Amino acid sequence: MDVFRIEGPVRLSGSVSINGSKNASLPIMAATILTVGKSTLRGVPHLSDISIFSRLLTRLGCRVTRSRNGDLRIDSTVIDNPVGEYEIVRKMRASICILGPLLARCGRAQVSMPGGCAIGDRPVGIHLRGLRELGAKIYLKNGYIVAEAPHGLKGKDIFMGGPFGSTVLGTANVLMAATLAKGRTIIESAACEPEIAHLANCLNKMGAKISGIGSPRLIIEGVRELQPAECRVIPDRIEAGTFMVAAAITAGELKLHNCRLDDMMAVVHKLRNISVTVDAAGDGCVVARTGPIKPADITTQPYPGFPTDLQAQFMAMLSLAEGNSVVIEKVFPDRFMHVAELNRMAANLRKEGPTVIIAGVKKLIAAPVMASGLRASAALVLAALAADGTTVVSRVYHIDRGYERIEERLNPVGAKIGRESI
Ligand code: EPU
Repeated sequence: MDVFRIEGPVRLSGSVSINGSKNASLPIMAATILTVGKSTLRGVPHLSDISIFSRLLTRLGCRVTRSRNGDLRIDSTVIDNPVGEYEIVRKMRASICILGPLLARCGRAQVSMPGGCAIGDRPVGIHLRGLRELGAKIYLKNGYIVAEAPHGLKGKDIFMGGPFGSTVLGTANVLMAATLAKGRTIIESAACEPEIAHLANCLNKMGAKISGIGSPRLIIEGVRELQPAECRVIPDRIEAGTFMVAAAITAGELKLHNCRLDDMMAVVHKLRNISVTVDAAGDGCVVARTGPIKPADITTQPYPGFPTDLQAQFMAMLSLAEGNSVVIEKVFPDRFMHVAELNRMAANLRKEGPTVIIAGVKKLIAAPVMASGLRASAALVLAALAADGTTVVSRVYHIDRGYERIEERLNPVGAKIGRESI
């Protein structure tokens, strides 16, 4: 198991290139199940979550390879085992997004029911409700979701809203299934995240007929078949947001390449109110801190609201603000594993239900801390860059799930992060 030894405080300065999005890559990899033949996905990051998903597709019968230039090639000519096994799904709950495409292609699918994780219960009831509306019979057997539609799926008007708004992977599942359903499907209260718009655009490249892309009302005219396609994955807006906070928390300045500010308006707006400039430049932007960090109130929401996937990172930064901030988590109300760890670094955070009140402190102080979830771990790395002393972050494998060799990207711009195997 690797640990990070991070020396702080540092000031970051220089250029970093943003990788392709993990959360955009996974649903597109699943979409290849709907096609017969070889698809090429460009810009898929080298992450452990991508390796796990590749293994999942391989078990179904697909061939997944990386070419020399880094492209991911998926040959989905043969799918003879439409089963998402527990051993893989338990490692990555995003595996659930093979359910819709497998059902549409094979008329039958069996996927292990995902459990909860560090950020909460993570139910999938809305995914199943949507697929049932398309005509599938769905039941639970020995911990597996079994979905059957031997005579194919039928388009329908479906409402996909839930207690916390829209669902990203639920929308992906039903959208993918509906592309091969007979007739028209309307998904109302669809997730509007850029990753879903990107998936819909890739599906259209494969021959699907989807309109309303980017809106909460997706209209899908079912087609008989889809063809393999070439798709380039969009930049990772969460990685970009994490590096923006890295610039801000270290009072530094970073130029980010391959970054789409249009997908990040809520984040950019917050940063600008906190004494951070974000200026479009070339294929990305320049982010710089211009004064002391100002306090802020943040409420996470589905897109285009402030993303839950950047809540922990912003909390690390607001720990050092000149005053009190409030963070309300409205997507995953239990996503606060980082709070106790940040307090170990001398932050002053108080959790009240889905709300955290942050009393800004002058200094963070290094401590041994433990990574728990992916974004919580990123927050600890950010805090460590600004903290006095050497912070040791254990269980770094959480970070490796979503950030490709983060130390090799941050060290050239001034970070002092060592990776050690213990
Ligand atoms: N929900 C339900 N019922 C459902 C599905 C979801 O009540 O059937 C609730 C969830 O419990 C949550 C809310 O709806 O309160 C939103 O969850 P959503 O389904 O949108 O989450 P997800 O699709 O499982 C994706 C990302 C997450 C990201 C969320 C929210 C991927 C692979 N995962 O998860 O990313 O936090 O959307 O934006 O795309 C991460 O990258 O660190 C990560 C956790």
